[in-house]
Amino acid sequence: MARSVGFIGLGAMGEPMAWNLADAGFDLVVYNRTTERERPFAEAGISVADSPEHLVKRVDVVCLMVSDGDAVTEVLEREFGVLDGIDESTTLIQMSTVGRDETMAAATAVTDAGGQFLDCPVSGTVGPAREGTLVGLAGGDDAVIDDVDPVLEAMCDPVVRCGEVGQGTSMKLFINLLLGDLMGAFAEALTFGVSTDLAIEDMLTVVENGAVDSPLFTAKGQQISEGDYDPRFPVDYQFKDLDLALDLASDERVPMSVTAAARELFSGARADDHGDEDMAAVIKYLAETADVDPSASDE
Ligand SMILES: NC(=O)c1ccc[n+]([C@@H]2O[C@H](COP(=O)([O-])OP(=O)(O)OC[C@H]3O[C@@H](n4cnc5c(N)ncnc54)[C@H](OP(=O)(O)O)[C@@H]3O)[C@@H](O)[C@H]2O)c1
Repeated sequence: MARSVGFIGLGAMGEPMAWNLADAGFDLVVYNRTTERERPFAEAGISVADSPEHLVKRVDVVCLMVSDGDAVTEVLEREFGVLDGIDESTTLIQMSTVGRDETMAAATAVTDAGGQFLDCPVSGTVGPAREGTLVGLAGGDDAVIDDVDPVLEAMCDPVVRCGEVGQGTSMKLFINLLLGDLMGAFAEALTFGVSTDLAIEDMLTVVENGAVDSPLFTAKGQQISEGDYDPRFPVDYQFKDLDLALDLASDERVPMSVTAAARELFSGARADDHGDEDMAAVIKYLAETADVDPSASDE
């Protein structure tokens, strides 16, 4: 019999991840706070639970992919929440990007209720989520990871074992602080170039043929030159992750001057109403301040 898996949080990332579990043949049950997002699953004959508690009671493995730490706490602790449904047969895989303290608090709540807990946030955005090629960043006991490995592998390739519970979260904050720092530096350099009348296409050609070439700069450079800021990974979430990394760095007494500057860039972009746009829109904040247009330098 196919193993039963529950998925909570059918947002931009969770929706394609849940479809990959269905395609892999798991006996899937889904839940989303806004029921509209459950409809395509119901129409495909996939079970829909009317609360997190209801979902957890019907499955062995629960994947959680919601927006932030407050959302994780609410899904766990609300009336008819995850904690109401957990018993010793439940393994909860917390995949949302949250803070290290938030991960440890969720782990304690789940294990106190009798279940097993893994943190496995993911690196990669909506495209890899659709293709099942997210990089899974797993933190927890090897035996627990081994037990749910087929579930993780339906969504992720590779799955990197980062250490004990909490280390998946640390790895996620490591990669996303690097992402935010690089995006901030790229946006700043492009704004500087546009202000000195360099053409964006020429700047991108120079980047792509030099030592700083990267998939990030290629993808975001193309978006910026086309003025395409549809969210793959929004400014609000990049800001959240820089903020979480700085919190953890502060606890660890690690100076993070580059990341602190990047955080302020993303903070400015949010204040300028670009929070829902793709992270590349951080350049809009800089370009508006410098009074240049990064998508129009070739005119
Ligand atoms: N987008 C990316 O490229 C990307 C990449 C890697 C990691 N991540 C991380 O993955 C997580 C999800 O990202 P996403 O892009 O899928 O976000 P999203 O599209 O904004 O979806 C957020 C999901 O969380 C649910 N949610 C929010 N607050 C809730 C609450 N209080 N109770 C119950 N459900 C709640 C939403 O439900 P409703 O439908 O009811 O609003 C929705 O299902 C975030 O932590 C993000 O940082 C994102």
